[in-house]
Amino acid sequence: MDNQNKLAFDGGWQYAPAPESTDHITIDGQYGLFIGGDFVAPESGKYFESINPATEEVLSSVASASSADVDSAVKAARKAYNGPWSKMKAAERGKYIYRIARILQERAREFATIESLDGGKPIRESRDIDIPLAAAHFFYYAGWADKLEYAFPGKRPVSLGVAGQIIPWNFPLLMAAWKIAPALACGNTVVLKPAETTPLTALKLAEVVRDAGLPDGVVNIITGAGETGAAIVNHDDVDKVAFTGSTGVGRIIQRALAGTNKKYTLELGGKAANVIFADAAIDQAVEGIVNGIFFNQGHVCCAGSRLIVQESVADEVVQKLKDRMETLIVGDPLDKNTDIGAINSASQLETIESYLRLGQEEGAEMHQSSRDIPTTGYWCRPTIFTGVSQSNRIVQEEIFGPVLAIQTFRTLDEGLSKANNTPYGLSGGVWTDKGSKIFKMTQKIRAGVIWANTFNKFDPTSPFGGYKESGVGREGGMHGLGAYLRLEG
Ligand code: NAI
Ligand code: MG
Repeated sequence: MDNQNKLAFDGGWQYAPAPESTDHITIDGQYGLFIGGDFVAPESGKYFESINPATEEVLSSVASASSADVDSAVKAARKAYNGPWSKMKAAERGKYIYRIARILQERAREFATIESLDGGKPIRESRDIDIPLAAAHFFYYAGWADKLEYAFPGKRPVSLGVAGQIIPWNFPLLMAAWKIAPALACGNTVVLKPAETTPLTALKLAEVVRDAGLPDGVVNIITGAGETGAAIVNHDDVDKVAFTGSTGVGRIIQRALAGTNKKYTLELGGKAANVIFADAAIDQAVEGIVNGIFFNQGHVCCAGSRLIVQESVADEVVQKLKDRMETLIVGDPLDKNTDIGAINSASQLETIESYLRLGQEEGAEMHQSSRDIPTTGYWCRPTIFTGVSQSNRIVQEEIFGPVLAIQTFRTLDEGLSKANNTPYGLSGGVWTDKGSKIFKMTQKIRAGVIWANTFNKFDPTSPFGGYKESGVGREGGMHGLGAYLRLEG
C-alpha cells in the first residue's frame, strides 16, 4: 500500500508540504565571540560545529571560549558596568531594552527559522511561542528599568554588577531573553553562554544588541561547552550566576558558589504531573496532555511528563490519547504542519532511547504512534508507558523527550500524593470541572507553577521556578527583578 492509500485507509489526513523558506536568513560560516561590542576570534583559535539535528548538516562553526576569553568578556562587562551603564539614567537604559525588543519583532521570521534549523523545534513553535515570548520579555522588563523603586517600596534597589548566565538548548533565544532582559533592566551587565548545540540565535541576538547601539561590553555573548560555563561560574569578578539546565550541573554550580558572595538562581529539571479528574472536560484534557509532553519534543523542563488520571476515565483518556498520537506529524521542523520536530542532538536521542529500553525492562507497557519518521537526523515517536509504578525510574527521572508515564488514582489524596512523589517540583497541571478541587490541588502540589485546565502557558509577568531539586530562585515577573538587585535601606 503506498503512503497516500495507507493514510486514506487509516482515516488520516495528508497535508501538502508547507516548508518555511530559508532564503530570507543568513548564517555565517564562522562566528567569533561577541566581547566588548565586537566579534573577536577566540584566544585558542578553536571552533566547534553546530549542526541541524533534522538533517545532520553543519550550519556553522562557532568559537570555543577558553578561560582567557571568559576573562576578557568579564573584563569588558565590568568596564561597561563601571563606565556608561551604571551612570546612565534608568529611563535611558530602558530605551535600549525596548529597542532590542522591537528589532527582535522586526526580525522575528528570521529568528524563528534559525531557531528551528539549529535546534530542531517545529517552526510553528519557534514562530508562535519562542520568538514572540522572547520579545515580550524584553518589552516587559524594559518597562521596569525606571520603576524599580515602585517594585520594592521603601527600599533602594541597587544593581549587582556583572551577571554570568548559562543557558540550555531547549529554548535558546527565549532563555537568553529571560536572562538578559531583567539583568539589564536592573542595571547589570552580562556575559551569556548559550548551549553548544544551539548557539546561533544567541549570536544573532549579539547582532541585535550591536544594532540597538548598546554601549560596548554591556552584553557579551560567548560560545563553548561545559568548561566555558564553569569558567564563567568560577570567575572572581562575576557577581551573580544565572543557570538553566540539568540538575546535575546545577549541583556542581551550587557547590562551586557555596561560600562566595555571588548571588545565584538555578532553574533545573522537572517531572511534572498532569492530574486529570473524572469530571474534567476530557477532550480538552487530552489536548493539554499532548501539548504538555509532545510540545517541543518533550525538551521542556516543565513538560507534563507524567499523567495521573482518575481510574474511572483512565481507559477513555488513554484511548483518546492513542488516537490523537496517530495524527501527530513527526518530521521536518521547518514544515508548518509539523507537530514534533527533531530531537536536539544524537546524545539526547541516546538518553531518550535508553529510557525507552529501561521502561520496558521495568515492566511497563510501551505504546508509540505508528507514523513514519525520517531516516536521517534524530527522531523519536510520541511514546506512552502504562502499567508503571511510582518507584520506576521512568516515573521518577527527567527523560526530556516525548515520553509520557501514565498512572491512575481513585481519591484526590492519592492523586496528590502521586503528583508530589518525585524529587522535582517545577510545574504541574490539574484538570477538573470543580473549582474546589483546583484550589485543593494547587495549594498542595509542591511545584512552582501549576496550571488549571490548561498547560504550558507563559507570560513575562508571571514568576517561574522550582521547589526541591528543580532549583533555587524565581525568574520572570517582579520576582525576577529581585534576582538581579540588592535592596538597601
Ligand atoms: P547541561 O546542564 O549539561 O547543559 C546546560 C548548559 O550548561 C549548557 O550551556 C552547558 O554548556 C552548560 N554546562 C555544562 N556543564 C557545565 C558546568 N560544569 N558548569 C557550567 N556550565 C555547564 O544539560 P545537557 O547535558 O545538555 O542535558 C542533559 C539533561 O539535562 C537533559 O537530558 C535534561 O534532562 C536536562 N536539561 C534540563 C533543562 C532545563 O531546562 N531544566 C535544559 C537542558 C537539559
Ligand atoms: Mg545545532
